[in-house]
Amino acid sequence: MLRFEMIAIAALAAGTAAVSQPVTVQERRQAEVDRGFALANVRCAACHAVTANAASPNPESPSFEDIANRKGLSSATLRQYLRDAHNYPDAMQFRIDRSQVRDLSAYIVTLKRSGYKPAI
Ligand code: HEC
Repeated sequence: MLRFEMIAIAALAAGTAAVSQPVTVQERRQAEVDRGFALANVRCAACHAVTANAASPNPESPSFEDIANRKGLSSATLRQYLRDAHNYPDAMQFRIDRSQVRDLSAYIVTLKRSGYKPAI
């Protein structure tokens, strides 16, 4: 009986710890950005410059910084674009799922800069 109670208390404590872990909107957003950056490195960096102040390995591919700073671009317009593979240029023959689209867009819009000028 005592043993059972101890196990029950341990289980309760573990459950409480998981529930009370603070997950703020900001932390969730940061996690999206981090996953988006990791994904961009794996899936996009062969063609696009995925960080600021970098040139794309494939000159036909705009840098993510250029994309982020296009007039009117928001994470909503970017998500819309990336959700539909029909929008993609011929070079981009792949599909990415919805959660990846959200993560990638969250990362790419972090490259927005006021007064950004394309490097041409
Ligand atoms: C095999 C090379 C290649 C890979 C890999 C690639 N892209 Fe591209 N992408 C291109 C090229 C080339 C263009 C420009 C096509 C054009 O302007 O006609 C482009 C354009 C874009 C555009 C801008 C479209 C526009 O409005 O002009 C976005 C956004 C984009 N890519 C996102 C991504 C993301 C996100 C990934 C990774 C998940 C990725 N790309 C991976 C080659 C690639």
